[in-house]
Amino acid sequence: MKKLIVMDHPLVKHKMGYLKDERTETKQFRELVNEISMMMAYEATKDMMLKEVDIKTPLQDTVVQQRDYKNPVIVPILRAGLGMVDGMLQVIPTAKVGHIGLYRDEETLEPVEYYCKLPVDISERELIVVDPMLATGGSAKAAIQFLKDRNVSRIKLVCILGCPEGVEAIHEAHPDVDVYLAQMDPKLNDHGYILPGLGDAGDRLFGTK
Ligand code: PRP
Ligand code: URA
Repeated sequence: MKKLIVMDHPLVKHKMGYLKDERTETKQFRELVNEISMMMAYEATKDMMLKEVDIKTPLQDTVVQQRDYKNPVIVPILRAGLGMVDGMLQVIPTAKVGHIGLYRDEETLEPVEYYCKLPVDISERELIVVDPMLATGGSAKAAIQFLKDRNVSRIKLVCILGCPEGVEAIHEAHPDVDVYLAQMDPKLNDHGYILPGLGDAGDRLFGTK
């Protein structure tokens, strides 16, 4: 329980350097998010269960290994999570995709769900929730709770950049959810931004600033 996996691969570190650089423009930023997401999909599926299946090669009978359960569901948190979907699908092409949208109520500061569309058999599948940023953890914590309220029990959280505050928030609220990060930064600033961070992931992905 309370598992945190921070990727330790030179290619990820190299790509994170460009992702964080303020000179990286939208096109390259998107490509980097895509490439890092592919590597994270590989990491987050390392414990996928396999079963043995009898097949015939052109030469003889043999036993191979195939996935034992229904394919997982990738669930991006709107909007920035969308940037990670294609990379994840390149590694798990048969995965289904659900969407969850949240905004923060300006008065209560509580996350409010404004959109949710998930496969009907969601409770029989593993969910991989994706969002590039794990800052205070408020968005991911709420998204995971909304999914649990729909009877989902197997959930992983995959974020590109996180910080100790965000990881702690998820571990505290959802100790059963394994957290995967490409990189961990040291802290948050007073406005809830990760430092040194990469700025606003959604704005950089979609060119809205
Ligand atoms: C960003 C990011 C996360 C959230 C992280 O989304 O993509 O969803 O902030 O912060 P938290 O851990 O403190 O909740 P944002 O709210 O900026 O919306 P966007 O995806 O539409 O850009
Ligand atoms: N959301 C972002 O996009 N960036 C941060 O640093 C924190 C929250």
